[in-house]
Amino acid sequence: MNNLVEGQVYLNGEYLPLSEAKVSVLDRGFLFGDGVYEVIPSYSGHLFRMQDHLDRLQDSMNNIRLQLPYSFEQWMEILTPLLDKTKDQYIYLQITRGVAATRDHAFPKDTVPTVFAMCSDIKPLAGVEAGVKALTMEDSRWEMCNVKATTLLANVLLRQQAVEQGCAEAILHRNGYVTEGAASNLFAVIDGILMTPEKTTEILPGITRKVILELAQANNFKLSEEIISLEALKTASEIWITSSTREIIPVVELDSTPVGDGSPGPIFYKMKQLFQEYKKSV
Ligand SMILES: Cc1ncc(COP(=O)(O)O)c(C=O)c1O
Repeated sequence: MNNLVEGQVYLNGEYLPLSEAKVSVLDRGFLFGDGVYEVIPSYSGHLFRMQDHLDRLQDSMNNIRLQLPYSFEQWMEILTPLLDKTKDQYIYLQITRGVAATRDHAFPKDTVPTVFAMCSDIKPLAGVEAGVKALTMEDSRWEMCNVKATTLLANVLLRQQAVEQGCAEAILHRNGYVTEGAASNLFAVIDGILMTPEKTTEILPGITRKVILELAQANNFKLSEEIISLEALKTASEIWITSSTREIIPVVELDSTPVGDGSPGPIFYKMKQLFQEYKKSV
């Protein structure tokens, strides 16, 4: 049972209707994009891989030197009232460096971080089962893509460019090798091997990516975390994009060319099944 009236959000220690949740225009999240966030799925009221999400949040905060020493239990206490046990949902959690007295790039002293969380329903995405189209694009983001920073302008522009060309995602590359999607990680089946770019500061260490790697290992898939050239990606028999809210989505057309036979491949169906079974088991 939900403890709150529907539509309530959490802001700095209070639960209130979304329309009443306000932050100052001097908040550094607003002025500088000086903050980090998490997106945590919840299935029937159970937060999925919560420890992994909190570990990544802590890493993001460490990277931007933002301190907020909440324990697992404190986060659970804050987030649980937002959940509805009858639904599949996701929590959006954002922490900024807080409100400063004046606008100055350097960190203000004694600022209290702004903590905001809201919960939304995960809506089934129409048509994605059949696969989506994607475009490859030069990765124009900064060099700390391992940080889940609210500063997302490059991602926004890249995704928008893809959408304007009838595609669901931009698949990014730097110096001739692929990194990830604008808001997803990337997997490809090349010469029968399930591959994903290795974990570096050039990609976000996705929790969905982590779960897929665990499942692939436990089920003896041929698997490799390595550098994938753009050229090699174009020879893939399967390409998937993965994220917490969209799980695993097959890409069936890359740069207007069919991937494999232009429909989702057998390894996708196998992993999708394993992923659904895993979700039910936890
Ligand atoms: C740039 C980027 N990479 C990867 C992911 C996937 O991460 P996760 O599986 O933890 O949602 C996301 C999620 O939004 C993302 O924005």
